[in-house]
Amino acid sequence: MKNICVIGSGYVGLVTGTCFSDLGNKVVTVDIDESKIAKLNQGVMPIYEPGLEELVERNVKAGRLSFTTSYEEGLKDAEFVFICVGTPSAVDGEADLKYVRSAAETIAQQMDHPLVIINKSTVPVGTGDWVADIVSRMQPEPIDFAVVSCPEFLREGSAITDFMNPDRNVFGSTDQEAAEKVAGLYSALGAPAVITDIRTAEMIKYASNAFLATRISFINEISIICERLGADVTEVARGMGLDKRIGPHFLQAGVGYGGSCFPKDVKALANMALTHGMHPQLLNAVMDINDFQRKQIATKVRELLGGSLDNKTIGVLGIAFKANTDDIREAPALTVIRNLANQGANVKAYDPVAMENAEREIRNVTLVDDAYAVAEGADALILLTDWNEFKNLDMKRVKESMNEPLLVDGRNLYNPDDMRKFGFVYRGVGRGYNGEGVPNGHSDEAMAPVAGD
Ligand code: UDX
Repeated sequence: MKNICVIGSGYVGLVTGTCFSDLGNKVVTVDIDESKIAKLNQGVMPIYEPGLEELVERNVKAGRLSFTTSYEEGLKDAEFVFICVGTPSAVDGEADLKYVRSAAETIAQQMDHPLVIINKSTVPVGTGDWVADIVSRMQPEPIDFAVVSCPEFLREGSAITDFMNPDRNVFGSTDQEAAEKVAGLYSALGAPAVITDIRTAEMIKYASNAFLATRISFINEISIICERLGADVTEVARGMGLDKRIGPHFLQAGVGYGGSCFPKDVKALANMALTHGMHPQLLNAVMDINDFQRKQIATKVRELLGGSLDNKTIGVLGIAFKANTDDIREAPALTVIRNLANQGANVKAYDPVAMENAEREIRNVTLVDDAYAVAEGADALILLTDWNEFKNLDMKRVKESMNEPLLVDGRNLYNPDDMRKFGFVYRGVGRGYNGEGVPNGHSDEAMAPVAGD
């Protein structure tokens, strides 16, 4: 049993602290947001994450997990302090480190015994050294400490499973003994530990996310080519993924990546390259393709509706950036809804869990109670989030209630043949147009085999 303090009760902090308490440690989570802490103390979760509420309840009851706004209380018995505060994108694309700075300053001012300070927030390479510098400058009197970078690789929606079953954990520090101590906290999980220097650890996080984003943009670009040539990207991805060197994951073409990490991290990495005199060609292409992928949804619908969206009623299924989360940060739906509305469409939308966030943050949309209300009277239906709930809709009912049976499946969730049998004009992402002739705007000539075939 170790005493751990977690600074920040957002997504990463809350999951990390709760999981460490479940592993038998004593965890105090500190957040400056009083209302968040008050809610947590009443058992109300600030985020939607499957399994989290039960896990918090169990560990609070067992006396291993508590929440406070007081750093003093959090640091009192702590041997380890995890910094898990937000690092939003500043306007110029750089990560905004004001919360990390203030956490480091407060820890420095309040610590009264040696600490291992662990940075979990995704921060630009070099931030660990900067945190160490802040702590040593701000301490009223010198007390031993070490800074370790231990990036998180948790996916929203499966964060607890990811924490408990990691592929690897990464620990970077100038103080190898401290890195090994932090690795010890994770040893019960049995995953490989990469112990390295602090800058390399910070880079592993960015490179991992940028690589995954690259895979998504890669398959999205392939999807566009597939559409033009009449191939099916889902089968292409399956055929590619069986090659062990490629692997099957992160090859789902769709409306582009979103969420709180990929867009921000790719941008920040590109920015780090730029500020160090390098032009990040591949990362720029990854971002451009992602923008294009979102934007082309409205274009696709407009073309299918004969060239104008003016006064058309468009239904949107799914607002969250992916299934199993209420998170709409950088969600493709935000761009799609905005583009549709800007072109004169009346947009209505529904999401199984992201409605509260949508109500707060999205303009130009009518939020309705369920998927069937979205379809009612619509000239086109666009699926943007791959929720299970949408897999099992009564598609006959959906089709019959629509004004025009046009279905644009931004996640390739449905079987095209089944949808065509229901009577839909179906368009997925990168799926050939079997039996429906050539796509709009492309001549027979363009569909002919290209030279070299
Ligand atoms: C990601 C990383 O996976 C995680 O390791 C990191 O710590 C935080 O960022 P998360 O943002 O929760 O996690 O989402 P993830 O499941 O990775 O999906 C990211 C985005 O890519 C989503 O918008 C998703 O819909 C999209 N995606 C993912 C695709 O479009 N195609 C795919 O094949 C996979």
